[in-house]
Amino acid sequence: MVGFAIVRSLPLLERPRYLLEPQAYTDGAWFDVERRALLDTTWHRGSEGTTLDHWAGLDFSSNRPSEPLEAALGALPRALGSVQPERLVEVASVDLEGEFNWKLFIENHLDVLHLWYLHDRSLGSFDHARFEHRQLGRNWASYEPLRAGQPRPTGSLISHLEERDVVGLGAHLLFPDTPMAAAADFFLTYRARPVAADRTVVELRVLAEPGADPDPLVRASLGFIEEDMEACARIQHVLWSRHFRVGPLAATHEQPIVAFQRNVIDYLEGALP
Ligand SMILES: [Fe+2]
Repeated sequence: MVGFAIVRSLPLLERPRYLLEPQAYTDGAWFDVERRALLDTTWHRGSEGTTLDHWAGLDFSSNRPSEPLEAALGALPRALGSVQPERLVEVASVDLEGEFNWKLFIENHLDVLHLWYLHDRSLGSFDHARFEHRQLGRNWASYEPLRAGQPRPTGSLISHLEERDVVGLGAHLLFPDTPMAAAADFFLTYRARPVAADRTVVELRVLAEPGADPDPLVRASLGFIEEDMEACARIQHVLWSRHFRVGPLAATHEQPIVAFQRNVIDYLEGALP
């Protein structure tokens, strides 16, 4: 039985708060509605779907696309900075399975606040206080520079990057389930492929300069992605508790999560009974 208990109003003067109830992350019937009405009709990184298209040398697919890939990408390509994925090659492909709902992984990706805590070491060289992010319709883009005093990156740097992107990190989302990240030496996509209400496969694809050694790039990527996956699995576990409650949210640093949930709800409008 799906509760579909959505808080449908978000008064502008209130602090941001979660819009989706726990059953949106745990209920198989909810997951089935979500798959038919949202996941089948949007675009995802990879070639799993029946309709294929490409952008910047990357493959995307959908089962029943509600709009062309170019429209789904919207302003996102222009917000990625100077990286040009079509000038890179895929140097590694790693599938990571986790016991959590796909939306938890996306919400984690959009959350600014956890950078100081969950990634205090893996992303500690970046200046989270200068994190910039913006909503681009349903998509999202962000950038943060290295902290002052941090050494300039070395290694197999992407040769065509502008300096701002050499000394910074970008994290982006193609709605609904395709996170991207851009650094001095790699461009990642890591689609959270939904398998069941409580199971997701994160499809990490690492692009870099031709000839780059993939091992340090995969290690650097897994350094923060595995931290995220572990946190998502812990949250999924406590969602089953009848005592679970979401606490107060940060006014700006957790606002992208609320925007994502609003977009999910808007997309599902009409599909819910
Ligand atoms: Fe994270």
